[in-house]
Amino acid sequence: MTNPWLEIPLSDYESHMALPKIAQAEMLASQFSDALPRFAPESVAVIGCAGGNGLDKIPGSVKRVVGVDINPDYIASAFFRYLGRIPGLEFHVADIQSDPLPFAPVDLIYAALVFEYVSLPASLSNLSRVCRLGGRLVSVLQQPSAHVHEVSPSPYTSVQAFVPLMRLIPPTELVECAKSACERRRQAAKTGATGGRDKVNSRVNSRVNSRVNS
Ligand SMILES: C[S@@+](CC[C@H](N)C(=O)[O-])C[C@H]1O[C@@H](n2cnc3c(N)ncnc32)[C@H](O)[C@@H]1O
Repeated sequence: MTNPWLEIPLSDYESHMALPKIAQAEMLASQFSDALPRFAPESVAVIGCAGGNGLDKIPGSVKRVVGVDINPDYIASAFFRYLGRIPGLEFHVADIQSDPLPFAPVDLIYAALVFEYVSLPASLSNLSRVCRLGGRLVSVLQQPSAHVHEVSPSPYTSVQAFVPLMRLIPPTELVECAKSACERRRQAAKTGATGGRDKVNSRVNSRVNSRVNS
């Protein structure tokens, strides 16, 4: 089955997220912007980066920025929007559940509203290989709401395509799963099973925003 994210035009996704009644694009960018001074990373990976929402918030102190998304059209747009504007910027088209992530480990991984669409154990195991020793995972998770639809109705009906794939993740599940992935990496590094790669992330800080609803 084709991943529905490959079928949603970026313009529809971005227009939906920017609608005043949804107002998610700016919120996600500002969560990212808040995390950057808090952890002062020199390198950052934005997972599920779509068209690059929030990349303009990255300060000059960050030397390397990696954007990853499954949709090649999203990555192409992000590339044209930001290349030359941010030093050390690279993009990769990848499914974080299964594809090798071909970049050096980073200090901070920001993954906003993406774990809802993937296998958590597979994705965190993969991401743990690209998080540096002492690195951080900052995530925004959508949480259930009695008052708001999981995906708000909007004129951009194509965005409804991701609904069948979506599963809301309890924050505790993310933290436990991330800890297990870290532990497995640590053990693999100890036994040399990483093929000499010993960059293991030892801390997990899941920053969760429970107000989110797209
Ligand atoms: C709800 S959007 C969040 C986008 C972005 N974080 C923002 O600030 O708007 C989810 C993003 O994750 C991407 N995505 C979904 N599944 C993915 C996967 N398996 N691997 C990589 N990216 C994925 C989608 O293409 C989409 O860009």
